[in-house]
Amino acid sequence: VPLEETSLPLFFGWFLLPGIQDKVRCTSMDFLKTLDTLEAFKKHLPDFTVDAEKEVDLEQYFQTNGALHCTTKFCDYGKAEGAKEYADKPAVKELYGSAFELSLSALFVTPRTVGARVSLSEDQLTLWPADAEKEAVSVVPAAATLPAGSRAHVTLGCAEGVEPQQTGFDLLEILALQQEGQEGELVEEMELGSLAYYGKGRWLLSLREPVSAQACFSSLYG
Ligand code: A2P
Repeated sequence: VPLEETSLPLFFGWFLLPGIQDKVRCTSMDFLKTLDTLEAFKKHLPDFTVDAEKEVDLEQYFQTNGALHCTTKFCDYGKAEGAKEYADKPAVKELYGSAFELSLSALFVTPRTVGARVSLSEDQLTLWPADAEKEAVSVVPAAATLPAGSRAHVTLGCAEGVEPQQTGFDLLEILALQQEGQEGELVEEMELGSLAYYGKGRWLLSLREPVSAQACFSSLYG
């Protein structure tokens, strides 16, 4: 492999600072702990397990690994389409290593992933690749019509055998339903915010107070 290719990272993104990582992990754990005790969740349990008699412990169901981050561009060491163009963008070069405040506005859970939605500011959108949503259309067709930044998320956990990039697809699916006018079935007002069900095991908790997360724009070589 030529050195020029290996000089591109696995991915670029915002890496949450250690203190806020702990806070976000705790919030996510609290949410999962509460969710799997709710009657409404138990009613839809077959979405999560074929054995409806069995209880699901969501904290065990999802595996977490690595530092919490919001991927901007997955480069795959230069093999991904548009990787070099992204790395060469003036905003990427200029803002590399800078601190940001990300706004985590919602938590979502599906049978595949648990994640946090990141609502990007205008400034932060300058680091968002123009085709991030379009790259997802083979999985979520409606992604083509969603605004830039819709896919921005922090993966908090994946079910066994599920790849982390699934978290962004799961978020796009929920946002596509909202765009079609489906509000989701309001299930409960929780301390953290309002919980809605979107069918097929998809749950969205809109946070009453968005979590402000300090993060550094950087890259991971892995
Ligand atoms: P995500 O951003 O949803 O967490 P991996 O561990 O599979 O090498 O991935 C490293 C990071 O890059 C993960 O955070 C992952 O998902 C993201 N990622 C992996 N593949 C892709 C892809 N094809 N498109 C966008 N992001 C990806």
